[in-house]
Amino acid sequence: MTVRHFLTLTDLDRSELKALLQRAIELKAMLRMGEIYEPLNNKVLAMLFEKSSTRTRVSFETGMAQFGGHALFLAARDSQLGRGEPVEDSSRVLSSMVDCIMVRTFEHEKIELFAKYSSVPVINGLTDDVHPCQLLADMQTYVEHRGDIQGKTVTWIGDGNNMCHSYMHAAKLLDFKLNIACPQGYEPEQKFIDETSDYIELISDPHKASAHSDLVVTDVWASMGQEEEQERRIRDFKPYQVNTDLMQVAKPDALFMHCLPAHRGEEVSADVIDGPQSVAWDEAENRLHAQKALLEFLLVS
Ligand code: CP
Ligand code: NVA
Repeated sequence: MTVRHFLTLTDLDRSELKALLQRAIELKAMLRMGEIYEPLNNKVLAMLFEKSSTRTRVSFETGMAQFGGHALFLAARDSQLGRGEPVEDSSRVLSSMVDCIMVRTFEHEKIELFAKYSSVPVINGLTDDVHPCQLLADMQTYVEHRGDIQGKTVTWIGDGNNMCHSYMHAAKLLDFKLNIACPQGYEPEQKFIDETSDYIELISDPHKASAHSDLVVTDVWASMGQEEEQERRIRDFKPYQVNTDLMQVAKPDALFMHCLPAHRGEEVSADVIDGPQSVAWDEAENRLHAQKALLEFLLVS
């Protein structure tokens, strides 16, 4: 039997993704009503982190606990992987003991190699290329606030990074238009442009890109691993701040999202992220519900 992994959003097809988002909404309602639902009794999720995390770690760990299972936190630097044990060996051994493995790492190729040698599902908790778990939460949040996202216009402002790439995948899967406004030299990678070209438009002017948008999204200017570029990026990205000026050209009922952590005064002004159009806090909470739906999808037949 082939093992089902979740390395990019496109590991799901359109109907699976839509069903998963509806299930996330249901699981959230069940939790709110105090319903005990433990489909992962005695199951164990290993979580291997090579980069920092708050939301991803806590949402997976809490989700496993609510489902009656257990989550195991492994910091790469404290494990043998951090001392050079081959990825292939680590994957074989871990997957012989646990039921699912979440990996947050740098190179996307590393999680692909990990998945190749794993006998259990591998979930991408963020790589330099993509952040698919975050998109489950973002799309759930949009649906909860505004209904179906098909045919809507979403604008990505800032770095053509892992989050931007996953938004490109979401545009293709859920059939919305994605305008992407990045400073020159910070555009998304060509392979993602090629994959999603019918659904995206690169518009370097952030105001033009945001015009009549239903949702405006941004992310940090320097991602994890790019700390030494921070100062240069602050200079290069300055015209790309999401502030009230920019939100004014979007539709009056446009939403604002940010995967967090946010840098107020850099990629977003405080009055936008803390203002009435921001759904960043629901978006963060939905990591829990969306990933529970994902775990159920991958582990409960
Ligand atoms: N958005 C997100 O993935 O947050 P963490 O880095 O805190 O996990
Ligand atoms: N683009 C950011 C997302 C953090 C959740 C990073 O990779 O650091």
